[in-house]
Amino acid sequence: MLAVLLVTIVAAFALLNCYGQSELPEMVKGRMNKSPPEAQSKPLDDAAEYGGEKYEPGMELARQMMRHSWAGYRKYAWGHDALRPLSRTGHNTTGLLTDMISSLDTLMMLRMDAEYLEAKACVLDQLNFDKTSTVSMAEMGTTIMGGLLGAFAMTNDGRYVTKVFDLATRLARNFDDLEVFPDDSIDLNGYLDRTNLRV
Ligand SMILES: *[C@@H]1O[C@H](CO)[C@@H](O)[C@H](O)[C@H]1NC(C)=O
Repeated sequence: MLAVLLVTIVAAFALLNCYGQSELPEMVKGRMNKSPPEAQSKPLDDAAEYGGEKYEPGMELARQMMRHSWAGYRKYAWGHDALRPLSRTGHNTTGLLTDMISSLDTLMMLRMDAEYLEAKACVLDQLNFDKTSTVSMAEMGTTIMGGLLGAFAMTNDGRYVTKVFDLATRLARNFDDLEVFPDDSIDLNGYLDRTNLRV
């Protein structure tokens, strides 16, 4: 009795297995017999993978998209933080040219030289931390400092560092008292009232 049961179970599994296999598309079955794809064992930091002619079509697509976005920003929102694309107006949250600053390295990488030079002139001429009110610490660190340092890293132009130094000096006031928790926003140009943040 037990033997019959066992044989039935084994037969059922064999059948199921057979049936299952034949139901799989050829492509999947082929893959199941292969070891993992070559690419997975390659080091990811192989620069040739990203820089070669092979990737030029992707680069061209990125350039086209950036040209489109930049033309919109330039036409409708120049000098503002951001473009509102449906109303076609400029918008400020900080008044510190955020989108322009965070685009500097992108413009250089995509070799949009004329656009980069125009943005650079505007940033170096007009970026002024004195005239602002309260801004987000996180945005100052990532977008503004990160954008300026990225542009400096790619050009070695010390005028970007002068701007960063000015901003960093203002932000550092948020960390000057060890008994006060740093605030998540800061007035770049005024008195810091941090009485509520005392630990
Ligand atoms: C936005 O900020 C820029 C740069 O500070 C300034 O020139 C512009 O007038 C501001 N726009 C508005 C609508 O406040």
